[in-house]
Amino acid sequence: MKVFITRPIPTIAIDMLKKAGHTVSMHRENEELSRKDLCKKVKGAHAILSLLTTHIDASVMDAAGPQLKVIANYAIGYDNIDCVAAKARNILVTNTPAPEIADAVADHTIALMLALSRKIVAADAFVRSGSYTIWDPNIFIGTDLSTVTVGLIGLGRIGKCVARHLVRGFDAKILYTDVVRDRSFEKEFGARFMTKDAILENADIVSLHVPLLPQTRHLINAAALRKMKKGALLINTARGPIVDQLALLRALQSGKIGGAALDVFECEPLFGCSIADTKAYQKLSNVIFTPHIGSATLRARTSMARLAAEAINAVFKGKKPSCIVS
Ligand code: GLV
Repeated sequence: MKVFITRPIPTIAIDMLKKAGHTVSMHRENEELSRKDLCKKVKGAHAILSLLTTHIDASVMDAAGPQLKVIANYAIGYDNIDCVAAKARNILVTNTPAPEIADAVADHTIALMLALSRKIVAADAFVRSGSYTIWDPNIFIGTDLSTVTVGLIGLGRIGKCVARHLVRGFDAKILYTDVVRDRSFEKEFGARFMTKDAILENADIVSLHVPLLPQTRHLINAAALRKMKKGALLINTARGPIVDQLALLRALQSGKIGGAALDVFECEPLFGCSIADTKAYQKLSNVIFTPHIGSATLRARTSMARLAAEAINAVFKGKKPSCIVS
């Protein structure tokens, strides 16, 4: 079968696909194909292994042709794929919810919380610039995680992992909201279930762990930011459009929000994007940016590659892949 990979991924996936007898072609440049070129490249493919940056809609599926059977997305999130169009064409969509990703994203989320609470990035710049001339008891005063209440919006695999590490490692208090209430989790970790609004009103740090869906787009908008405690911190390692980035900018500028750590952006990459006033963001010292690297550990990325290849191999062996999302 013909498999098209939309951008370079760990080679283990390519090796697994070739070993299973598939013909693999890959767009080798580390840049997104234009829609026109993508439609040309997918022609005749039986499977597409896509990255989260590749928007796969009906036009791409139709350009591939009726033999297209599976789109394996190399990510947990699959908001880049039109699942309704795929279903209408009997094309399976799979993702890569490896447990290793939850660990990696949870680590990154907590790294951002610590970096923000202890002003690590600004302190690093201070030392590099030669400003550290004498020990000063009054500079870079932060907050200890053991004294904060963390509000988790979303308690899926990643949210749970964040909560576990925060409670066991830091003694932090956890509030959470989710479409499903998990009473045994509450009991084990002392977490309290609340509405989103109650979390915004009570948490010192709000961390987002929901998928991007029509109902979660701009979940954190100007009204939500107004509800947050003055000086609270916001962490987003989920998907950029969950936060109204312009509203967040205003809340940071006014001091309502004390700081933000963003691994994802309303449009990526952030700089050169027209949605938010990115130059104004760049000037803020209470914001930390990372380039969508939540799952960037060798272990997680290798598992993601393996899961994506396994899904494609399963489909062509007539088996049901383990990670079907639609
Ligand atoms: C990364 O953002 C993912 O969805 O896996």
